[in-house]
Amino acid sequence: MSERGSFSSRIGFILAAAGSAVGLGNIWRFPYLAGTNGGAGFLFIYLLCILLLCIPVMIGEIAIGRNAGLDAYGSYKKLGGGKWGYLGYYGIFAGIVILSYYNVVAGWAFGYFLEISFGDLLNHNDFGQFFGEYVNNIGPIFLFSLGFMVMTAVIVSQGIAKGIEAANKIMMPGLYFILIALIIYSLTLPNAMAGVDFYLVPKLDQINSRTIFYALCQAFFSLSLGMGCLITYGSYVTKDQNIVKSAAIISGADTSVAFLAGLLVFPLVFSLGAEPGQGPKLIFVILTQAFATMGPIMGRLVGGAFFLLICFAALTSTISLIEVPSAFFVDTKKMPRKTVVWSLAGLIFIIGLPSMFSQGIIPALNHLPGVHNSPDFLSFVADLCDIILISGGCIMCFFIRNVWKIDSLNKELAIGNPGYLGSMVQSYVNFSISWACPVILSILSTLVIIDKFFGLDWLF
Ligand code: PHE
Repeated sequence: MSERGSFSSRIGFILAAAGSAVGLGNIWRFPYLAGTNGGAGFLFIYLLCILLLCIPVMIGEIAIGRNAGLDAYGSYKKLGGGKWGYLGYYGIFAGIVILSYYNVVAGWAFGYFLEISFGDLLNHNDFGQFFGEYVNNIGPIFLFSLGFMVMTAVIVSQGIAKGIEAANKIMMPGLYFILIALIIYSLTLPNAMAGVDFYLVPKLDQINSRTIFYALCQAFFSLSLGMGCLITYGSYVTKDQNIVKSAAIISGADTSVAFLAGLLVFPLVFSLGAEPGQGPKLIFVILTQAFATMGPIMGRLVGGAFFLLICFAALTSTISLIEVPSAFFVDTKKMPRKTVVWSLAGLIFIIGLPSMFSQGIIPALNHLPGVHNSPDFLSFVADLCDIILISGGCIMCFFIRNVWKIDSLNKELAIGNPGYLGSMVQSYVNFSISWACPVILSILSTLVIIDKFFGLDWLF
């Protein structure tokens, strides 16, 4: 028996898609990538990627999903015929692999929430060292990640309106509130303005090929693009909704959270005299250091609330990641939702174990032999997923341009949006999907593959 749901309201879909987009990508990954790749220069290129490439890709995905009314695999197959279903498999694979490592990082954040609220984390004095030891303390990390996966499965097994929609309606507004309150606090600290300068005043010499690659990959990751996630969510959208407008709101919400996360982190980094380019541990180190200076009670309260909200944000993303393969088995294979979700959750958790053990405890997973720059397993998988996302987005644009056709896209977008045909927005979407995305994304995804696996230090 298959059970297909739909969002009960327009705002329900927007909140769920924004909930998918807003996650660890915005609060954990965006600041550390910006910190390592040129600060304001990174932000500038990131915004450019969103405007020129990502919003049209998002519009394309939602339109495919709503038109076909099926999961990613079913939609590509229905609109393009036989072989195009493979593109759906690509997305299902991406969802599984991303979730495998994402859940590990979510487990770290969940652990930090517990340690700050109920433990003595804030009494330490070297937060960098604490982080290093923490992620290698396998017992608790195992339990926290498992706990996170179970929460994801509980919500998704409830179905669309009851589970996914209800969860998002509460979590999103809380996140904005606490981010803004913390930014106000961080801007009043000494030397905060040096952080603002680093983050907001672009310096041309900080932009290089890597700034562009990482900004592009991050933009796709952050907006949950390139793997059929928004095709799947789009399939639950009703015909009276305006897809272009929804995509603009979702991208705006996601970008604003990433922007605010940077505006919180960099003033803190500079006022604490820390290093912006410290990589994946950045927010875990900087934020806890800042919370520790707030005093024992305030630090515990504010720090606990903040990490709890990061967990909420991550949860609305893990929900969407598992929904992509789940929808495939529910729609196409006609399997019961609960069985599908719990089996997938178990499988993905196991696939994530090497990432969990890659932070030092198993040396071979900490420095992958034979891979350029010998990254740890978790970073390697994250890089691999980035490539899948941008190439997936690129192939989707080819699909719309050459198979489904731009005309069909325009017809779908005109439903629920009477002024669309003949508008400037139409020219922008059409130009981006038929030219800008295929050209830029195919060149850049090739370069990113060469860079990540062989090194591209010879470029610029
Ligand atoms: N966009 C999510 C984040 O920023 C991650 C994600 C990627 C979710 C791809 C779904 C699909 O955290």
